[in-house]
Amino acid sequence: MTETKVFRIDPENIDYDKIRYCADVIKRGGLVCFPTETVYGLGASAFDEVAVENIFKAKGRPNDNPLIVHVCDNEMIENVADAPDYQMERLEKMAARFWPGPLTMIVDKNGAIPDAVSCGLATVGIRMPVNKIALALIRESGVPIAAPSANLSGKPSPTTFEHCEQDLMGRVDVIIDGGPCDVGVESTVLDLVGENPSILRPGAITLENVRETLGENSDLFDWQKPLGDVKPKSPGMKYTHYSPDADVTIYDGDIEKVREFIKKETEKLIKEGETVGILHTDDATGYYDKGFAISFGDRKAPLTLTRNLFDALRTFDKFGCTVVLAEAVDKSGVGNAVMNRLYRAAGGKIITIK
Ligand code: TXA
Ligand code: MG
Repeated sequence: MTETKVFRIDPENIDYDKIRYCADVIKRGGLVCFPTETVYGLGASAFDEVAVENIFKAKGRPNDNPLIVHVCDNEMIENVADAPDYQMERLEKMAARFWPGPLTMIVDKNGAIPDAVSCGLATVGIRMPVNKIALALIRESGVPIAAPSANLSGKPSPTTFEHCEQDLMGRVDVIIDGGPCDVGVESTVLDLVGENPSILRPGAITLENVRETLGENSDLFDWQKPLGDVKPKSPGMKYTHYSPDADVTIYDGDIEKVREFIKKETEKLIKEGETVGILHTDDATGYYDKGFAISFGDRKAPLTLTRNLFDALRTFDKFGCTVVLAEAVDKSGVGNAVMNRLYRAAGGKIITIK
């Protein structure tokens, strides 16, 4: 057990004494949980091999799943990347539009980044977050910060201080409470190494955003296609993440029919002794009269859904739900990120109601 210090920091009025304390922890090889606009990260100096290994231990993370390196300015990128012109040209074009922001870009790595970060890959994921606390922490530390999401491996990513506290209290040196995360799902991971730019993990920066910037040949990894024996480009794609304790199933199809089905199924499952959670959108508020029904936002505004999704999944656990029935949402644009995370929470269980 480590004694974990907690600092509450207001992103709009940053207390630099607290930031300096946290930066010292990073410089000395410690672990700091900090907010970003996507999810909370569990950070250590990206140059410190032992500290990075401690991240994997604190999370219980498989050691073949590489970490994202967070930078605060363009100069820092040079210490992280050592990539050919075609990759850097793509990176600069995307960075000009979307950095700082919820976008991670994969390019060839600099030898200064230890293998512990990249898990032996020749590449590295780089992100410049927009959250002011994250930027201040990186700047004050003076080193790029390697950080996965600050959850125990397999749990939904943390989008509030309380989520970090549940998972990592006693396992890290500091947790910064910077309030709830804006976007709520992890960054878009964009591979710039291959022949065509390719989204390995969907997020708030969409395929349309990438195509407008890097051309129509950019593509999106089809996460619904079974991987079989194919080795995924992004090692994280093969793990069932985000799973609440409950058994999740997604229902897709005509929304009226989906809702009628979920309502009937809820009654049936309750009779069988299950504790049922229902994940729905605002337009069904009041419709479900049995089970623990949670609305996670407006289906026409997917950024409201991303913001609340992981908190909803954790709340079902708090209620002791054994089963969760979830309404599908439209998979276009940011909706792709919502459905990707839901799909993985459900271990791929998606049923179309006819
Ligand atoms: O929004 C985010 O990206 C958050 C915040 C903290 O920045 N971080 C995050 O990290 O989600 P993590 O470790 O939970 O997810 C990183 C994903 C994994 O799926 C990993 O396999 C992939 O990025 N990844 C990292 N480096 C990679 C590389 N060199 N090549 C391919 N995939 C990589
Ligand atoms: Mg993660």
